[in-house]
Amino acid sequence: MKKYKLGIVGATGAVGQEILKLLEKREFPASEIKLLASARSAGTELNIIGEKIIVEETTAESFNNLDFAIFSAGSENSIKFAPEAVKRNCVVIDNSSAFRMDASVPLVVPEINPTELEKHQGIIANPNCSSAIALMAIYPLHKRFGLKKFFASTYQAVSGAGAMGPVSLDQEVTEAVSGAPVPNSLPSAFPHPIAFNLIPHVDQFREDGYTKEELKMSNEARKILALPSLKVSCTCVRVPVYRAHSISINAEFTKQVNLPDAIQAVSSFAGLDFMDKPEEKIYPMPIYSSEKENCQVGRLRVDHASDNGLAFWVTGDQLWKGAALNAIQIAEEMINRNSLRKIF
Ligand code: A2P
Repeated sequence: MKKYKLGIVGATGAVGQEILKLLEKREFPASEIKLLASARSAGTELNIIGEKIIVEETTAESFNNLDFAIFSAGSENSIKFAPEAVKRNCVVIDNSSAFRMDASVPLVVPEINPTELEKHQGIIANPNCSSAIALMAIYPLHKRFGLKKFFASTYQAVSGAGAMGPVSLDQEVTEAVSGAPVPNSLPSAFPHPIAFNLIPHVDQFREDGYTKEELKMSNEARKILALPSLKVSCTCVRVPVYRAHSISINAEFTKQVNLPDAIQAVSSFAGLDFMDKPEEKIYPMPIYSSEKENCQVGRLRVDHASDNGLAFWVTGDQLWKGAALNAIQIAEEMINRNSLRKIF
């Protein structure tokens, strides 16, 4: 089997670390793994697949002779280094939002729109974490009933805010329980207390009152589902959960819905577990979605508030299906399709 040379930009970060775990778990066919980060981490030793690898500072030359590079180091670094990688014939799979809405960049969830990979021109974008998880449940229902619009409310875990998110939650819970401030408290990753609270504010507000995160759900759903006039309204909420996002969705369809067909559609979709036995208290919950490759969907019912609507609840590990796993699946799918170097 052919093996590939892979770079991980942001290898020391929250998503980078999950990528390393998953490469090993999924036995990715790598002949070389180059760990890249900022100058701050250059020289750090990380363990991967039983080998110690030294982290290097990311430079344009880092991409010489690599087949793929998975970027998880924020938009600025993607904008700076992705074109350098492409110039050197290295395919970029980008976890940032930098290129997602660029018409020449495929935005891909491999279970949904893998054929888009054939059109790449060197960069493939990985969707926002909440969009990827929501669409894993929406897509099989769309295929069956034809999606018209959807409303979504997200319940986003603190680890989605970077490494400081869980630290802030830990600190605030300790302070609340002990009744005393924790010495050497770090500034919070959130604009308000997150312990025992919900914050309806993820990312920056726009003039129309939505946040940028909420608009990602609308724009990315339109692009991934190839439904340019799809109507979406989303409210994103940060919740005091360590890991895995949950999303409550009310979707309206063009065809008449029925529950048996809806259940059949979600149950048979790869990458999605149907968990829905309310009488036995079985439904998806973020605590059980952590470190799971599949997303979970449940609480599936006919929506009382719309003519052809379904209401459902989906959970998924935002560091895996919402980022690291989806990126690795993109690389695997490109290998399977032999679409690695097709365009440039
Ligand atoms: P470093 O650890 O050297 O700062 P997170 O999302 O968890 O905050 O992680 C961000 C990742 O992006 C880290 O691996 C971080 O590396 C990396 N990073 C930050 N700035 C740069 C840069 N200028 N060049 C390459 N990687 C960077």
